[in-house]
Amino acid sequence: MAQAVIGVIGGSGLYEMENLQQVEEVRLQTPFGEPSDAYITGMLGDVKLVFLPRHGRGHRLLPSEVPYRANIYGMKMLGVEQIISVSAVGSMKEEIVPGHIVIPDQFFDRTTKRASTFFGDGVVGHIQFADPVCPSLSEIIHDAAHKAGATVHNGGTYICIEGPNFSTRAESLVFRSWGVDVIGMTNLPEARLAREAEICYATVALATDYDCWHQDHDDVSVEAVIEVIHQNVAMAKKIVAEAATLIGEKKACGCGEALKYAVMTDPGQIPA
Ligand code: ADE
Repeated sequence: MAQAVIGVIGGSGLYEMENLQQVEEVRLQTPFGEPSDAYITGMLGDVKLVFLPRHGRGHRLLPSEVPYRANIYGMKMLGVEQIISVSAVGSMKEEIVPGHIVIPDQFFDRTTKRASTFFGDGVVGHIQFADPVCPSLSEIIHDAAHKAGATVHNGGTYICIEGPNFSTRAESLVFRSWGVDVIGMTNLPEARLAREAEICYATVALATDYDCWHQDHDDVSVEAVIEVIHQNVAMAKKIVAEAATLIGEKKACGCGEALKYAVMTDPGQIPA
C-alpha cells in the first residue's frame, strides 16, 4: 500500500508537532503566493506528516490574512491526501463545555472577504459541498479523540465568521437560534479548497469558551481562549498522533474524485 501522507494545519496554540523523525523544513512558492510558513515534514511511525501553522509561527496572520489557497496548494504539492485541521472554537451549546472536542460535520459561511476557490480566471467549476468534511477521516479523528481520552462530540455545525473581532451578543444569540454548535474564524475556506484540491479534510475543534451568549460565563477573551488552549494542546497533539496510527483503517470516500463532474468549462477553452 502507498505510504499515507497526512497534512496537519495547526491553529491557535498549535505551532509544532512533537516526536517526528526525519524532520525537514520545506518552504514553497505557489501560484497563489507563499503559504503561512514553512511546512514541517517528518515521520510519525509509518506515516508521513506535513505540518503547517495556519497563522504562521509567532501567530502573525489574521484569519482574513491567512493565505488559504497557497496553504492548500502547498499541501497538494507535498502529496498530502488527507488534512486534519486543529482549531480553537467557541461553544454555542451548553453541553459543549470548554475543553471538549467537537468533530464538526457541517459548516455555515459568514465570511465576507476571502479568496477561497481555485476556480476563476477562465475555469468555471462547482464542487459538491453538501457534506463539507470527509466522513471517513472524521470517523478516524473521532476514534482518535476518544482513544486520547478527550470528551468528544461527534458532528455539529461550525459557523465561520470573518473576525477578527469576536461576535456581538446579538450575533451570538442569532447564531444560537440557527442551531449552530461551534463558532470559529478559519475552517470553512480550508474545507472548500481541500475539496476542490480533492484532499480529504476534517476538523478537530477544541472548545475554548462560550462566546458571549452564556449568562453564567464571562464573555470570550483572548486570555481565556489561550488558557484553555494551553491546558489542551498536549491532548490535541495526542489526537493527531492517534489518528496517524488509525489512518490505515480509513474507509474509501469520494473526496479524491471531487472534480470528476465539477468543471463546466469546455476542456478546449481551459487556459494552459
Ligand atoms: N475561537 C475561539 N473562540 C471563538 C469564538 N468565541 N468566536 C470565534 N472564534 C473563536
